[in-house]
Amino acid sequence: MESDDTYSIDLGDLDALQDTYSWMREQGPVVRASLDMGGGQQRPFAGLFVTRYDEVIATLLDDRFSSDFYATMSPEQLAMLPPVAAELRPIVRSIISVDPPDHTRLRKLVQPSFTARAMEALRPRIQRIADALLDTAEREAAERGERAPDRHMDLIAAFAYPLPVTVITDMLGIPHEDRARVRGWTENLFEVDRRQGGLMDEETRAKLQELITYLRGLFHAKKAQPTDDLISQLVQAEEDGDKLTEDELVSMVFILYIAGHVTTVNLLGNGVFALLSHPDQLARLKSDPALAKGVVEETLRYWGPIDVIARRIAKQDFELFGTPIRRGEVAMVGLASANRDPRRFPDPDTYDITRADAERNVAFGKGIHVCLGAPLARTEGQVAFETLFRRFPELRLAVPVEDVHWGKSFIRGLAHLPVLF
Ligand code: HEM
Repeated sequence: MESDDTYSIDLGDLDALQDTYSWMREQGPVVRASLDMGGGQQRPFAGLFVTRYDEVIATLLDDRFSSDFYATMSPEQLAMLPPVAAELRPIVRSIISVDPPDHTRLRKLVQPSFTARAMEALRPRIQRIADALLDTAEREAAERGERAPDRHMDLIAAFAYPLPVTVITDMLGIPHEDRARVRGWTENLFEVDRRQGGLMDEETRAKLQELITYLRGLFHAKKAQPTDDLISQLVQAEEDGDKLTEDELVSMVFILYIAGHVTTVNLLGNGVFALLSHPDQLARLKSDPALAKGVVEETLRYWGPIDVIARRIAKQDFELFGTPIRRGEVAMVGLASANRDPRRFPDPDTYDITRADAERNVAFGKGIHVCLGAPLARTEGQVAFETLFRRFPELRLAVPVEDVHWGKSFIRGLAHLPVLF
């Protein structure tokens, strides 16, 4: 694990990481680490790694750090960077990778749509989507001639993936007839994302270009005929003048769509797997469905989808909890490590859905970039866990627990979860 004094973190090998985090936390609040995003990158991130809960929070609140990779580069360094192809621009620069005042301006435009109150209004719709997906799973099992409680489904493909995708495409206002196409383009993109260091192949670039052309066309249609959805609101903001440029509009819709489901699918999948592999906790949920809230928070703490925020760049030289950091150097922030810090969460490796302060987890980050969609993901999780085990109380793993593995991705999640119900 350790070479010289640098820890190596391979997000492609998630099973091994809890031990690594534990060693790093014992070493100190800040250690040196190199981070491979799980695709065997040629040039992994390297820099300081913040390991403990209090220091993780303090780092995310520290405005001596920037979220913008370009912030500390000189004009000469910037000029030496390879030009960014037009079709990649929306990925490279978005709300998540800019600092104030641009960040403040962008965040203000979307924040009102994601308040806890807005989510409560959305809850009945999320409930209908969850029920419809489970109806489909039942119908398909019946068509195969299967009977309860021995019907099969892949929980990811049948439920955990389509639930958040449908919710975010509804919110954005992507027309039903286009959804399969949009999904095709972005599934491809996600593959590329997993190989962050790798080059994007021609086909993927072409798909991305198609997606962006499609979005620009959709913006025109919504301009001509606004509907009651997020894209129409953002298009209006772009029209109003100085609030949003057209590139920012593309990038915002893109990130909302991607961030709106790739992480939430794993909150749902990881939570169901945690319950099925901790029968005592599942029994508690069944006897008190209000504990669905506890399942969401404890799953975020125990197996949150994002292990590390890799993007914090020092804007000046200073000491980070006793370790010097130079201007331009990267600090990686260990969310998963903080969430298992015994200084903050007693008995941190125990999955306990009644844990009193599990909601103090940092799975959504902290500070100005704290996850915009956290209230949405939480609501989706609560509806999903409550509904699934109410409707299918016999739900159980269809394979031995040892046969369930993390997917090869820097996001902690399962590609498949075969269950019987
Ligand atoms: C369990 C599900 C989710 C997890 C674990 C998660 C995690 C995170 C984290 C850790 C950040 C902070 C990144 C940073 O500080 O650099 C973040 C930011 C963000 N998330 Fe999420 N997210 C989830 C769901 C969602 C959903 C459902 C949406 C969308 C609609 C969303 C949209 C965003 C956006 C737009 C940002 C950037 C916010 C900003 O820079 O101001 N996320 N998310």
